[in-house]
Amino acid sequence: MRVRRAVCLLVLSVFCLAPGVRGETGEQGWLRYAALPLQVAQQYGTIPHHIVITDPSAVSRSAASELARGLQSMLGESLQISSTLPAADSFILGTSVEIRHLLPKWKPPSLIAPEGFSLSQFAEQGHHYWVLVGGTDRGELYGVFRMLEQVAQERPIAVNSDAPSSPIRWVNQWDNFDGTIERGYAGRSIFFDNGHVRSDLSRVSEYGRLLASVGINGATVNNVNSNLHTLDPEMIHELARIADAFRPWGVRMSLAVDLSSPQAVGHLITFDPVDPGVAAWWRKKVDEIYKAIPDFAGFVIKADSEGRVGPSKYHRTPAQAANTVARALRPHGGVVLYRGFVYNNHLDWNDLKADRARAGYDNFRALDGAFDRNVVIQIKHGPIDFQVREPVSPLFAALRHTNQAIELQITQEYTGQQRHMVFLVPMWKVALDTDMRAQNRRTPVSEIVEGKSFHQPLGGFVGVANVGLDANWLHHPMAMANLYGFGKLAWNPELSTAEISDTWTRLTFGNGPKVNFIVNGLLVNSWRVYEQYTGPLGIGTLTNILGIHYGPGIESAERNGWGQWFRADSKGIGMDRTVATGTGYIGQYPPQLAKVYESLDNCPDSLLLFMHHVPYNYQLHNGKTLVQYVYDSHYEGAAIAASYVTRWKTLFERIDDQRYYETLALFEYEAGHAVVWRDAVTEWFQHISGIPDKLARVGQYPDRIEAESMQADGYTTVDVTPWETASGGKAVVCNRPGGCSLNTKPGRPAGTYSISVRYFDLRTGAAQYDLLLNGKSLAQWKANAMLPPAAVDAHLDGSTSTLFTVPDVRLKPSDTLTLRGTPNQGEPAPVDYIEVESK
Ligand code: GCU
Repeated sequence: MRVRRAVCLLVLSVFCLAPGVRGETGEQGWLRYAALPLQVAQQYGTIPHHIVITDPSAVSRSAASELARGLQSMLGESLQISSTLPAADSFILGTSVEIRHLLPKWKPPSLIAPEGFSLSQFAEQGHHYWVLVGGTDRGELYGVFRMLEQVAQERPIAVNSDAPSSPIRWVNQWDNFDGTIERGYAGRSIFFDNGHVRSDLSRVSEYGRLLASVGINGATVNNVNSNLHTLDPEMIHELARIADAFRPWGVRMSLAVDLSSPQAVGHLITFDPVDPGVAAWWRKKVDEIYKAIPDFAGFVIKADSEGRVGPSKYHRTPAQAANTVARALRPHGGVVLYRGFVYNNHLDWNDLKADRARAGYDNFRALDGAFDRNVVIQIKHGPIDFQVREPVSPLFAALRHTNQAIELQITQEYTGQQRHMVFLVPMWKVALDTDMRAQNRRTPVSEIVEGKSFHQPLGGFVGVANVGLDANWLHHPMAMANLYGFGKLAWNPELSTAEISDTWTRLTFGNGPKVNFIVNGLLVNSWRVYEQYTGPLGIGTLTNILGIHYGPGIESAERNGWGQWFRADSKGIGMDRTVATGTGYIGQYPPQLAKVYESLDNCPDSLLLFMHHVPYNYQLHNGKTLVQYVYDSHYEGAAIAASYVTRWKTLFERIDDQRYYETLALFEYEAGHAVVWRDAVTEWFQHISGIPDKLARVGQYPDRIEAESMQADGYTTVDVTPWETASGGKAVVCNRPGGCSLNTKPGRPAGTYSISVRYFDLRTGAAQYDLLLNGKSLAQWKANAMLPPAAVDAHLDGSTSTLFTVPDVRLKPSDTLTLRGTPNQGEPAPVDYIEVESK
């Protein structure tokens, strides 16, 4: 270490003084272990240089080598690992029994939970020992990560004990064997390619390390819409390699399976769960799995949902199906996570009593107590499907004799698909902290799923993660805060949003106060900001639910069987879910909570349209009319999103260039896309309600020049569907291979302007755009799909709408702007408008 510090002092290198400024890919996530400043590192001078492991398990070895790696990287110290006690100060890792063998006089702490740990100091014969005792080797590993987290934050290593709140702390990955990921936005699968498990699983080990560092102990690696041949013998053999890669990190692999596997894989004539042959098939299959994967965690089952078959085929219940599979797993210690996401996606839109939100409770309530003890019902946090705002599922309070796990979605399916920054921890906290008042007593969702409220043995947290091969795992550097935050909340749901955000920021971007102030400020409000410019008041996200669930597509929710309705007409909007006049959904909550939601006086504004149908001029608790609130919140939300760019720019050279520029580009894109959202939603509301915006913003864009009104050479005008996703409902496209052009005279007074071109990037090709001022090039760019959503949407719509801005252009009244577009591979260089804004 001395040599390294001397070198630092001599050369004053960037590496030594500002470790964060070099380019970083984000691959290390929050486990960067950046070198601490010299004076800070010195405060850890008493730290031992030896690590003793008392147990040779792979997890213990990971714990020891992680401790050595982390301290070496942060403090510059090199540490020796041994299995015998050296004549020197040491860290000692092990379980109580193992440590007592080594240090007979050391007194173990009274009780350590199986995955918990306790760190204490002990002195003997002139040596100081830092004893990290785990309930199991996993506990040791979690304790090591906790120590390193403290050092990375430049905090003293506090002597402490901790244990996770629940036994189930899993991620689900929705990866397909062909290498695609359902609702994945960060590249292809780290597990699969071309029908097989990848030969190189190094990213899987790295993922296991990240997961373990926040206490996650299980990973389901394949899509809940499971391949029917997941349980083929050859595939089990291949899948065992993934389990091997996770094992040193204490992460147990599980699989999503289809209930028809006895037919699809076993060639039985039935998969009826009460058929003895079917039960025998599951037993044999599970025995085969445990031979290949001795620590296999169990199955996740999606059945009778969105086209998956299920027990209803044989008029059996989810309990009968889950128990048959669970009984095969029980002798091996495996569990079944049976998803509560069972609903009919062919509901009758005309039936005013039909309500998808009722489905979880209606399907499972009567089965409470019928599930075996190794079955857990995995329940999405809200009754619909991960919308930007939902109440909690009433099912949590209804199952009192059944294990439950809450399913949260880390992958931002309905919340900006990792192209928008949305820190989801505040949203999850609202769900976890909701006091359901079951049995008229305090029963927050967090305590229900921990098994505390109703004394259940199992339960916990499942996060749909969907990391991919992108170097930084989730594409948006800020999205990693969600993976981190999920793990932290699964470990301890009492942690506050601020604590989680602050720790993640320090670990990810360093301890500088300015960086912390800016990044925390951006993160903590980002969910509410996204809600503001997409779908406020509990209406749903308003994404195109029939498309890729990304950009606005407001009426896609209405008049179909999917049941995400908000029932808008010219007079009012919102689902009437009251007991008095609506679908009765509110009656599924325990009486005290139901009373709050049932009454318009007490129902919070944030859930108003989820619970009630009200007129557009209905007055909210905040004093505004509903429709004016929609206008104001969209304008405010989009303005805050635009401020991300300027706030982020204050961090120039305070973090490394690579992550700085990647994040900046995403923020610039988000600012532009928030305007698409703002305009689409506000114009739609103005259109349907007939009530104009009091501030005359909606539909009035004096700085815009519509593409269809410019002088065109080759470009033709087309209608955009839905109309609200393009300015004026129209755009222009070029189908001439050599290219087309648009000309306009902005006629602005002399001055400095920013010029923005709104176009559509369809990802089908890479159309070329050239912007010229009086014939001279101002900017050239390609619609190369780097920024719009990861999923392909070949339409001109709110998902593909993109903004390109040229700042600081000097204009005079006589100037002419020309935009040339050259199509590429079917992408017709579409243009919506040009906006000329004075600075
Ligand atoms: C959503 C999502 C699907 C997914 C489903 C599920 O509906 O869009 O892709 O399969 O949830 O959770 O099963």
